[in-house]
Amino acid sequence: MKRFRRLRTSEAMRSFVRENRVTVEDLIYPMFVAEGENLKNPVPSMPNIYQYSLDRMEEELERVAEAGISAILLFGIPAHKDEKGSGAYDPEGITQRAIRMIKEKYPSLLVIADVCLCEYTSHGHCGLVHGEEILNDETLPLLAQMALTMAQAGADIVAPSDMMDGRVGAIREALDANGFCNVPILSYSAKYASGYYGPFRDAAGSAPHFGDRKSYQMDPANGREAMREILDDLDEGADMVIVKPALAYLDILKSARENVSVPIIAYNVSGEYSMVKAAAANGWIDEKRIVMENMVGMKRAGADRIITYHALDVAEWIKKKD
Ligand code: PBG
Ligand code: ZN
Repeated sequence: MKRFRRLRTSEAMRSFVRENRVTVEDLIYPMFVAEGENLKNPVPSMPNIYQYSLDRMEEELERVAEAGISAILLFGIPAHKDEKGSGAYDPEGITQRAIRMIKEKYPSLLVIADVCLCEYTSHGHCGLVHGEEILNDETLPLLAQMALTMAQAGADIVAPSDMMDGRVGAIREALDANGFCNVPILSYSAKYASGYYGPFRDAAGSAPHFGDRKSYQMDPANGREAMREILDDLDEGADMVIVKPALAYLDILKSARENVSVPIIAYNVSGEYSMVKAAAANGWIDEKRIVMENMVGMKRAGADRIITYHALDVAEWIKKKD
């Protein structure tokens, strides 16, 4: 008799034939560190996500360690922004200080430093600006300097998210020239100009003050182009790549998985998180089920690791396991 259902008869049987599993090792938790004191600012569009000042960050880091999460992705929010994003590559900048503190107290926690100017520029763009134009080549040395100061502060991995062309090569060169040939680059290679970043821009205060990011981030309608971006970043020296956002882009994740052998990381972005949280708060969906389904969907499409704001919850759910 033909019976697909034979392998679905009990949880033990289903578990026995399960192809993909989400584990705590899969999870990377994004964190926001803000300049100032005694801050724990809620992000209104992202329930349970906060900006912490350095002196308050430990309470959250403690939860991360407790959950068994092995990596965080760190974003800094400076008190002052300027045209050139000076705070981004200041060795005493908020992010550099945070990295030093975190690595001192949690040496085995992997700190991934996001490399981009938009949280630090007064205009909110990811590169230098001339009139209405976002400059490419002029931005590269600043990104390289930013990555270098992050590495000097102790970042384990640097992750450029700016989408300027040539930034991976520029960063690799700066790291190698200064004794950091062992610091890997995790490149946001296939990063789309997405409406799903809306809540993040609240969290990081990084919305562009004019125009949009469509001249540097990818067009959501383009699939094949993602492979060109990924292959070019690998050519320039990227060690790992990110596909972002994740859920509306699982086809990109899958074709990346089929075409390259480096680790691929899915970024389950802010808007994807906020939509689930909002529907769950209304009682319209079962939050745990939906989140776990999203997680395993990313794994099934080919993600090696997942950056997600749900990380603490997911770690907890996996631990309890029912
Ligand atoms: C900054 C950056 C963004 C995100 C990560 N790094 C926003 C953007 O490009 O506007 C988005 C993360 C998220 O939405 O969770 N370059
Ligand atoms: Zn940016």
